[in-house]
Amino acid sequence: MTSRRVSLQPLRGKTIGFLGAGTMGCALIAGLRAAGLPGRQLMAADPDAAARRRAMRLGARVTAEVCRVACAADVLVLAVKPPQMAAVLACARECVGRHTVVISIAAGITLRWLQARLPDVPVIRVMPNLPATVRCGFSAIAAGRLARAAHRRVAEALLGASGAVCRLPERHFNAITAVSGSGPAYLYYLVDAWQQAARDLGLPPAVAEAAIARTLQGSLALWRCGGLPPAALIRQVASKGGTTEAALQQFARGRVAAHLAAGIRAAARRSKALAWR
Ligand SMILES: NC(=O)c1ccc[n+]([C@@H]2O[C@H](COP(=O)([O-])OP(=O)(O)OC[C@H]3O[C@@H](n4cnc5c(N)ncnc54)[C@H](OP(=O)(O)O)[C@@H]3O)[C@@H](O)[C@H]2O)c1
Repeated sequence: MTSRRVSLQPLRGKTIGFLGAGTMGCALIAGLRAAGLPGRQLMAADPDAAARRRAMRLGARVTAEVCRVACAADVLVLAVKPPQMAAVLACARECVGRHTVVISIAAGITLRWLQARLPDVPVIRVMPNLPATVRCGFSAIAAGRLARAAHRRVAEALLGASGAVCRLPERHFNAITAVSGSGPAYLYYLVDAWQQAARDLGLPPAVAEAAIARTLQGSLALWRCGGLPPAALIRQVASKGGTTEAALQQFARGRVAAHLAAGIRAAARRSKALAWR
């Protein structure tokens, strides 16, 4: 398994079309633009005028017509919600061929399902996450049976513009959806509770926000750069009979770690149950 940043070279001269310019479609467009891809290489189709305006402000050419984008694209990113996928593919399938690379970022839509509708087309499945919006995303990618190394490089370059990319066998996609696809929401859930506690303790909101943000940022940096596992880092903060220990004992009584793990397992089960095979 690899995790790395990649260059835009495999996308040079290619037209990249997005079907769906919502949250994730625009996040990926923004990443490509910030990485230096010219706007003339980007197209997006979306029925929603506000979504089109956002994509246009990012420099993409926009339209409401799926077929216009599907016909022009060398690389076609399917960035609609899963229930919209069948209708989008019914329009797009007439235009795409073996020279198009199709990249789906939809949760739960399997390579098998996509390949059955696009039998001659190289297809790649991706699970990105929301921090792609600020080029700090994490994307897992799995290639379909027709995707060759050159097609994988195209997908890695496209997702690499918005963060780290990791090749992962498709059998792990329910797990990675639960871990990193849904992951940002777990953190925001914790941050919300943390902010509430800070308010209850009477801290000015701006101080609380800066303190929590910096604590998170610094703690993550130390975990990733310091070479110590979380349990060892916890021991560096928590002294016997001290303040941190008081909090950790309360978490243990509430079985917070077990509940978090159970929640992440529930997300993986949901991903499996929702899968379109
Ligand atoms: N958001 C995340 O954190 C996240 C993370 C990983 C993966 N994903 C996946 O990314 C995909 C997109 O999610 P999102 O959060 O970006 O959703 P979103 O914000 O709702 O964006 C989807 C966009 O597609 C548009 N659309 C609907 N029908 C269309 C059609 N026929 N042709 C072209 N565009 C069409 C929607 O317009 P209307 O609003 O008018 O329907 C909307 O603007 C989903 O499959 C999701 O599973 C999302």
